[in-house]
Amino acid sequence: MSGAGGRRLIVAIDGPSGAGKSTITRLLADRLGYVHIDTGAMFRAVALVAQRAGLDVADDQALARLCRGMEIAFVRDNGCCRVVANGEDVTDAIRTPEISLLTSAISTRRVVRDFLLTLQRRMGSEGGVILEGRDIGTVVFPDADVKFFLSASVEERGRRRWLELKAKGEDVSLEETIGAVALRDEQDSAREHAPLRRADDAVDVDSTGLSVNEVLSLMEGVVREREH
Ligand code: DC
Repeated sequence: MSGAGGRRLIVAIDGPSGAGKSTITRLLADRLGYVHIDTGAMFRAVALVAQRAGLDVADDQALARLCRGMEIAFVRDNGCCRVVANGEDVTDAIRTPEISLLTSAISTRRVVRDFLLTLQRRMGSEGGVILEGRDIGTVVFPDADVKFFLSASVEERGRRRWLELKAKGEDVSLEETIGAVALRDEQDSAREHAPLRRADDAVDVDSTGLSVNEVLSLMEGVVREREH
């Protein structure tokens, strides 16, 4: 839990896909007693609902309508964070390679970004939160108390994603997975609205070759220092 008398901060963790953000953020939130907000999961939930509705990604009016009627919540269950969209647990359904690619495309749409921006600011405004994403330190909370930019080499990130997919029984090759990670990097960095970009005042953490615990201790140290 947070240290006695420590301020409850807004912590931003940005970085490319597969850098270990979700794992690190979940564990760091547990250590600090903070709420974990996975903003990528929010974009994924919008993509899933749009896909099921058969929406065209470029149809901004339809996307705006879909967002207006959409409810997204994080529910803690056995220490694990479930994602609930319009009352349905979509935690697993939003993690397929197909939804990953669609999410990357849908996250370029301004209407979707604006909708989620409002929601994310509301969820984080009280402090005691860690938000992970691509534009938290640059757009969502440019005044966040602590900002991290978490990265790792594209090969390492591809390899991690491949191991995850294999564990789930997905039949994909390592090269294919590294290629998909590189493609998403490109889409996420090249988009017009809120591209993946390191905030000037972010603390750089390169997780290549580091264990989860090493990364975690390093980041916890930075947050603890700023809490006082
Ligand atoms: O972190 P993730 O892999 O679950 O993110 C899924 C997609 O959502 C990714 O392609 C980038 C996008 N995204 C975004 O544009 N802005 C965020 N704050 C979080 C995710």
